[in-house]
Amino acid sequence: MSEFIDISAQAGVLTVRMNRADKKNALTSEMYAALAGALDQAAEDASIRATLILGVPGAFTAGNDIGDFLKVAMGGERGSNAVFDFLERIICAKKAVVAGVDGMAIGVGTTMLMHCDYVVASQVSIFKTPFVDLGILPEAGSSLIAPGMMGHHRAFALLAMGETFSAEDAREAGFVNRVVPSAELEDRARAAAAEIASKPAEALRIARDLVRGDRADVLARMREEAVLWQDRLKSDEARTAFMAFMQKGQKKPA
Ligand code: COA
Repeated sequence: MSEFIDISAQAGVLTVRMNRADKKNALTSEMYAALAGALDQAAEDASIRATLILGVPGAFTAGNDIGDFLKVAMGGERGSNAVFDFLERIICAKKAVVAGVDGMAIGVGTTMLMHCDYVVASQVSIFKTPFVDLGILPEAGSSLIAPGMMGHHRAFALLAMGETFSAEDAREAGFVNRVVPSAELEDRARAAAAEIASKPAEALRIARDLVRGDRADVLARMREEAVLWQDRLKSDEARTAFMAFMQKGQKKPA
């Protein structure tokens, strides 16, 4: 449970909204745990046929809460493995996952989309993974998936250079299906989820399993990345970058 994750079910669709607007939906351990719980709920409840992930207007998510990163960088223990629990759930999700993105999709906000089955993004959306600039590295198995999805050069630009992708870039790269005006975003994402939920469930399951293929390699890469993360989070490069971000906030005029 998290006060920043809203979950509701209607007509076979479980809608999960990241809702921490004042922090641009930066994700805390509690929020990851709630997201993982929602995916468990979708898996266990026979009446749920698809999960829809949404953010708030202008912010899908600004990625992992950098304050949480900083705690680990300063020698604290990672409070929980909630982020990895969430990533495992979404990588192995047994039912379709749809996302509706408006505005910024940063870090895991971009990489989680590579595990969704259908993504609608508004025209103003931007996708960015500033991992290297933060002294850390790509996660969620993205280092394996992205090169196959968009080719080495674009994957390098996105994941290693931290280049910003527009909604159209993301569509061309293969992790966004449709680009729509912001005003239509949620309706279009809901319609896609409803369409999926209305299809013959067993036939859809078989088709989806075939299309997605075996996820063991993605899971293995995600775990490999996770081990490297533990060291990178405590590196001087990462500590410096996290402190610079947090101090920027403190220097804002009141
Ligand atoms: N972790 C923690 N707090 C975050 C955050 C994050 N990832 N992203 C945004 N916030 C907070 C800001 O510190 C600020 O808090 P404050 O109002 O208490 O100062 C608030 O959310 C609004 O963000 P702000 O930076 O003022 O908004 P903006 O529109 O100018 O910029 C971003 C938005 C997302 C471009 C910018 O906040 C940013 O670069 N965030 C970090 C993204 C990131 O690197 N994520 C990790 C990826 S691994």
